[in-house]
Amino acid sequence: EKIYVGVDVGGTAIKVGICNAEGQLLQTYEGPTETSKGTDTILHNIATYARAIVDESSYEWEQVDGVGVGIAGFLDIPNGIIKFAPNLKIENVDLKSYLEKQLNKTVKVNNDANVAALGEAWGGAGKGIDQCVCYTLGTGVGGGIIINGKIVEGFAGMAGELGHMSIVPDLEAIGCGCGKMGCLETVSSATGIIRMAKDAVERGDRTTLSHVENIMAKDVIDAAKAGDEVASRIVSRAAYYLGKSMAMMAIILNPQYFIIGGGVSKAGDFLFDQIREVFEKYTQDQAKENVKIVAATLGNNAGVVGAAGLILRG
Ligand code: BGC
Ligand code: NA
Ligand code: ZN
Repeated sequence: EKIYVGVDVGGTAIKVGICNAEGQLLQTYEGPTETSKGTDTILHNIATYARAIVDESSYEWEQVDGVGVGIAGFLDIPNGIIKFAPNLKIENVDLKSYLEKQLNKTVKVNNDANVAALGEAWGGAGKGIDQCVCYTLGTGVGGGIIINGKIVEGFAGMAGELGHMSIVPDLEAIGCGCGKMGCLETVSSATGIIRMAKDAVERGDRTTLSHVENIMAKDVIDAAKAGDEVASRIVSRAAYYLGKSMAMMAIILNPQYFIIGGGVSKAGDFLFDQIREVFEKYTQDQAKENVKIVAATLGNNAGVVGAAGLILRG
């Protein structure tokens, strides 16, 4: 039996999974990315975890038909080169060649959110749906576009970087890790939510939020759910720009599903209802007919499943 290894490289953790040809996840493993230790350590960790999951399983390395990798950043997808990964602080690294040499297998590299979208379209919320647009709300805001069942990569591999749609008006815009201003990611990521909470507390806004040095996005969402006005405004702002960006994507691509994953999506209907309201308000009627905004169902596993899928569907 052939197996497929999928690796999902995020800012905090590297997740690895073994899938069979049906996209069933047979085994998972997770280790720290160790972003602060630099590029060499990150690369080494990717190779080590990919080997380790197979070594520690009942499968043999010979059964591995290929290794797919999803990584957070701007990529030259055809060549598997990381051009710029702001949250991982990696620039111009030939990840595909490195891993092929280390692992002696076919390696395919793609963007983390593209791969999560493929995972959801293959075996998750978008199963059987050929047109979907996926957002991942975590350290950054990721985007993945699936059209006719395939990832849209664009001319140079830069398609679907939805987190860097410059959408916040200049007067309210702040700088993004990508070097530009007003990106969706600055307001709708976990990092953005945390930053807004810190700003509010520093300004002296009246809020129940405290201990902002190590506050998490979840704390802000929980406070908003409990009625804290400052926290509610922050979450609404995150939802507002997400909803608006979806209205734009609806008019550009008319996908059937918008799928939202990543840690922040665990806020559930509290967040989704606000996004839906904004989407309803700004999307032209025919472009939103029968269009749904749904939660990712593979949760944390969408990335590894989709990464393994790169080998089978590539
Ligand atoms: C990166 C994307 C990535 C997203 C989610 C963004 O900052 O530019 O490539 O998909 O974060 O990790
Ligand atoms: Na993407
Ligand atoms: Zn940006």
